[in-house]
Amino acid sequence: MEQQKKKVILSGIQPTGIFTLGNYIGAVKNWATMQDEFHCAYMLADLHAITVRQDPKAFREQTLSCCALLLACGLDPEKSVVFIQSQVPAHAELSWILSCYTQFGELSRMTQFKDKSARHADNVNAGLFTYPSLMAADILLYQADLVPVGADQKQHLELTRDIANRFNGIYGNVFKVPDGYIPKVGARIMSLADPTKKMSKSDDNPNACISILDKPEVIVKKFKRAVTDSDMEVCYREGKDGINNLMTIYSAVTGLTLDQITADFAGRGYGDFKTAVGEAVAEELRPIREAYDRFMSDRASLEACYHQGAERAARLAERTMQKVKKKVGFIL
Ligand code: TYM
Repeated sequence: MEQQKKKVILSGIQPTGIFTLGNYIGAVKNWATMQDEFHCAYMLADLHAITVRQDPKAFREQTLSCCALLLACGLDPEKSVVFIQSQVPAHAELSWILSCYTQFGELSRMTQFKDKSARHADNVNAGLFTYPSLMAADILLYQADLVPVGADQKQHLELTRDIANRFNGIYGNVFKVPDGYIPKVGARIMSLADPTKKMSKSDDNPNACISILDKPEVIVKKFKRAVTDSDMEVCYREGKDGINNLMTIYSAVTGLTLDQITADFAGRGYGDFKTAVGEAVAEELRPIREAYDRFMSDRASLEACYHQGAERAARLAERTMQKVKKKVGFIL
């Protein structure tokens, strides 16, 4: 029997700070589990990160920390291509080409652009606007079949598909048209302080967000303070945003269904439930924090990992670049 070809996975995360529990549950946790079944490439999207002003020294340190974090979350550089986006020039190159096949109107409709330009009104730069063309380049360069991301990236993925289809429509079959791979549970983890808002690194309220390197006692304390409602019942229902969020988190880390959670906590108050969620999250993250410290203390291995990753990524990307350049009519 002919062996089925492994599908290709590409995803990325901005190295703008320590990952949040949202990043972990919505994306990174799933990346590690996909490594055996698929050909995976995972990158730190540092080109995307400079659409918001970064302090160069802190940015360099954060990128290194995030590289160690990816490894601590279980990415294995022997199995997956783990790399830093700016070290593979083809991303910026293809991004420019694709921006010539992306419409102003399409980019104007992106909700992330609208949100970020409102938040950084003093720096609404062209990169913030063309950010989705760069993301399309990231994905299409590797001919990815699947892109594991949280729900907030869905609109960018749809635009990537539109760009790929448009390009293929003009030049023939150049790009694989990718599908999103959005988890059923945990695609949108909400703030602990305001469960109508997405959990985000940039939240000013430290209690709103769990960093995956938070110490166990800090994690438990933040969950105890999580905003819920005046009801008493642990059940997933419209209008119970805080409890829905805690149930989602608990389900994602324990594997229990929402119904099982409701049954387990029947007749018990929110206090018990919040403590259980905090403890389960702290246990899930404990090995990551320990592994992170190990990876950070061995800079030489970390450097070898991302250099080797960039070389492998560049080789894969170059195949697509050659095809694209030829199709567009550049002299090779
Ligand atoms: P970024 O860095 O904002 O987030 C990284 C991943 O984490 C997911 N995520 C969440 N999931 C659930 N709940 C949350 N509260 C939450 N917050 C973040 C995001 O959906 C994402 O999957 N543009 C991307 C990075 C990127 C990329 C790519 C992703 C660049 N090129 C190519 C996929 C493919 C971003 O800013 O993600």
